[in-house]
Amino acid sequence: MEAYSHHDIVKQWCFCLFLGIVLLLSSAASFAAAETQFHNFVVQQTPVKRLCKTHNIITVNGQFPGPTIEIKSGDTLVVKVVNKAQYNVTIHWHGVRQMRTGWADGPEFVTQCPIRPGGSYTYRFTIEGQEGTLWWHAHSSWLRATVYGALIIHPKDGSAYPFAKPKTETPILLGEWWDANPIDVINEARRTGGAPNISDAYTINGQPGDLYKCSSQDTVVVPVESGVTNLLRVINSALNQELYFAIANHKMTVVGIDALYTKPFTTSVIMLGPGQTTDVLVNADQPAGRYYMAARAYQSAQNAPFDNTTTTAILQYSSTKNTKASPILPKLPAYNNTQAATTFTTSLRSPRKVDVPTQLDENLFFTVGLGLNPCPKGQNASQTCQAPNGTRFTASMNNVSFQLPSTISILQAHYKKANNVFTTDFPAAPPTKFDFTGNVSRALWTPVPGTKVYKLKYGSKVQVVLQGTSIFTTENHPIHLHGYDFYIVAEGFGNFNAKKHTSQFNLVDPPMRNTVAVPVGGWAVIRFVADNPGVWLMHCHLDVHITWGLAMAFLVEDGVGELQSIEPPPADLPQC
Ligand code: C2O
Repeated sequence: MEAYSHHDIVKQWCFCLFLGIVLLLSSAASFAAAETQFHNFVVQQTPVKRLCKTHNIITVNGQFPGPTIEIKSGDTLVVKVVNKAQYNVTIHWHGVRQMRTGWADGPEFVTQCPIRPGGSYTYRFTIEGQEGTLWWHAHSSWLRATVYGALIIHPKDGSAYPFAKPKTETPILLGEWWDANPIDVINEARRTGGAPNISDAYTINGQPGDLYKCSSQDTVVVPVESGVTNLLRVINSALNQELYFAIANHKMTVVGIDALYTKPFTTSVIMLGPGQTTDVLVNADQPAGRYYMAARAYQSAQNAPFDNTTTTAILQYSSTKNTKASPILPKLPAYNNTQAATTFTTSLRSPRKVDVPTQLDENLFFTVGLGLNPCPKGQNASQTCQAPNGTRFTASMNNVSFQLPSTISILQAHYKKANNVFTTDFPAAPPTKFDFTGNVSRALWTPVPGTKVYKLKYGSKVQVVLQGTSIFTTENHPIHLHGYDFYIVAEGFGNFNAKKHTSQFNLVDPPMRNTVAVPVGGWAVIRFVADNPGVWLMHCHLDVHITWGLAMAFLVEDGVGELQSIEPPPADLPQC
């Protein structure tokens, strides 16, 4: 038997210590290990009674709003969607970056063909580097009016919120309800060429609340304990309306937007465009009782009809003696109070200094706005051209009114190199320069239809100036980019002027989000790095505007690295 030298023993001891550390580290790693969650979403018709009437609405699993998904950052979601409804459907995971998994993004005819009635498709993706509140919704026609739910991303195990952990958390989904089938509403508008009927109610977690007929008994009650802090995850899932939200006698501390943290600030009102989310801390620091939380329209387009009703839920202290007492309403800004909206959006900041792209590869300028098409020859204007002066409403970016393909999605066409589906000539700037927010000549009111994408090299640093126009009307447009978060480095009113405004950019701590509310008659400047290959829709999140063509898509090419190309399509990707 060999004797061990002192040296050998030390070596062995060192080895054991090394092994021990490795084991310890790997068990810590498995403690924080990412998980995979499986869900079944059955899209189906469900009778739901609101405003005294029962409608057969389309739901997920019979729930309205749909199921809340809660995961931890780093986790993988596998959601099998089975379509038992009579409409085509797709599900979009609004705000999820979908790194290399564009096949799971969801917009119909952009990244996938719709799931036909009787069909199914399984969405698989990992959520990494995002924490806070997102949501999911149908991305086909106007189905998202009733097909939507919250998607909540908690910090990984062993990591925490950048603020004291609130005792309770409540998702607050703001919705919009028609006392009709929303699909009929939009189909009717498509037929007439006019504006669709306005909604009949807004909702909080699916309920209109006390201020509507036949609704009081179902008003949502959010219980709170005195002295306790609640995290409200507010989501604007309305179809066509920017909304203000406030709580009577309670201040809100904003801590996150679109699943990104913000520098906390306190406010009595928040404004959300459709698609946007805002996480607020609310301290139950008022006398025990009942307080309304309420939402109603921020309406920026002048003289346009809109739903001017108010939805409410009740914040109710657990020690409230008189649970029948009627709550007080919060003060909400006037419908057209753009100043209130601006004060809120321009208060948003990233928590600290961030790495904003500076050496730009692409400097793009996109107009966003409405338009009017002349009545097609041979049509009866009184029936099919009910927009002003016997025309049909349309909308565009850079004068291109976006048309979806119908036989294959753009992403599939790109992947298979199929021709004649889209072109890559989306303009980097408007084809004609004009006074965008001034008195625009009628000659510029009619855009050209097209399925045009703008190509981006992998990794390119992109700036887009989003410039609202006054064609037909100026209006706040919530512009949403799929597959990316972007920095909002500046916003303002009137026409963007590079000479004047570039020096005012916030390149230190601008807010990052996936949807920017471009000010009415104004502009916003966003920046991002094109690090996610695929086809990514950018559109106004007012569904009526996307219906009219206020959209475009970026085609981000594969990079050269191993992890810089889109994954192959899943085997069950629906065919058209
Ligand atoms: Cu919330 Cu194109 O989506």
